[in-house]
Amino acid sequence: MTYLGRLRLGVNVDHVATVRNARGSAWPDPLRAALLAEASGADGITAHLREDRRHIRDADIVALKAGLGIPLNFECGATDEMLRIALQTRPHAVCLVPEKREERTTEGGLDVAGDIPRLTDYVAALREAGARVSMFVGHQAAQLEACATIGAAVVELHTGHYSDLHAEGREAEAAAELAALTRGAALAHSLGLEVHAGHGLTYDNVAPIAAIPQVMELNIGHFLIGEAIYVGMEQALSEMRRRMDQARSSENRP
Ligand code: PXP
Repeated sequence: MTYLGRLRLGVNVDHVATVRNARGSAWPDPLRAALLAEASGADGITAHLREDRRHIRDADIVALKAGLGIPLNFECGATDEMLRIALQTRPHAVCLVPEKREERTTEGGLDVAGDIPRLTDYVAALREAGARVSMFVGHQAAQLEACATIGAAVVELHTGHYSDLHAEGREAEAAAELAALTRGAALAHSLGLEVHAGHGLTYDNVAPIAAIPQVMELNIGHFLIGEAIYVGMEQALSEMRRRMDQARSSENRP
């Protein structure tokens, strides 16, 4: 088994904007949170511009791109509007996700296998603009193979189902989902895709995901932003980092 070294931590600042928008005011400012995360050792910042602009807004994306010293991962649905914004913004990375208006968060992976011709052109346009394109998908082999077919550089494995099972104490099912994610990571890596993971990760459930050898980056938002309310961004990030690094260290290799 290959171990690919230090895991990167991307911090999703959407929920700072959620709190801001609840009052229709100018604070808290997602850029300020992102700069604090950068100062606290984050390797990148993710922001999801949803079609309904329920949290991050267009002006946040412009401010993040201009203000950050670390890479911006622009997360969006694969629509014409978002392609236009991504091509204008020229972020380091674009993560394509499925989007349903009625969902509270991104509930499932993108159906790449069912949309190959369109997504091939979409990814090509982003690649030509210099973006590393990532597909937010489940661990199913057909989806991972389709990501390689359409020319994506990265897959982000959706850990939401694993996180839910873990939170509900359904340990056997969580272990089965973890095993499927582990197999998916190995398959994606063998197809030449860089492997990321994220959704629903917390202090309690991050270690087994961080220990998957092919995973190179975790993207974490809701829990970290919530924890930062109590202990501050620096402490929240450093505790997450400690748990990720510990899971990755030689003593903890399976
Ligand atoms: N990665 C992707 C692609 C996501 O859509 C999200 C949620 O916006 C996350 C990671 C972070 O998930 P969470 O906020 O649950 O940590």
